[in-house]
Amino acid sequence: MMYSEKVMDHFANPRNVGEIEDADGVGEIGNAKCGDIMKMYLKIDDGIITDAKFKTFGCGAAVATSSMATELIKGKSIDDALKLTNAAVVEALDGLPAVKIHCSVLAEQAVRSALSDYYTRQGIDPLPIVGEIKEPEE
Ligand code: FES
Repeated sequence: MMYSEKVMDHFANPRNVGEIEDADGVGEIGNAKCGDIMKMYLKIDDGIITDAKFKTFGCGAAVATSSMATELIKGKSIDDALKLTNAAVVEALDGLPAVKIHCSVLAEQAVRSALSDYYTRQGIDPLPIVGEIKEPEE
């Protein structure tokens, strides 16, 4: 199995690890099959994601994709963060082996889960905006 230099870098030196005490949205997503869990914390100000941190108990690809996902959404609007796909995360990492693609889905869904929590806290039904949060099934 071959990992790109970017994947190795984000695995060895993950960006934005930790939690945000006063987060505006917290998401958690797991993959029942591999048992990996990803937690995502977002600080949101005026519709802009001003900070993002994560904690991942999982494989190297899960760590690398959550690291890259936080980098990609920081400073972006909620709308842009909602458009973040796992494919975009994989592309930003210069690819992932096929058997590891599902790990990037965990990162995509962790972001959506945190945004869903953000809307719930505002008293807004997140479903029409964020859609259903899906646990990756692979
Ligand atoms: Fe579980 Fe990668 S093997 S997320």
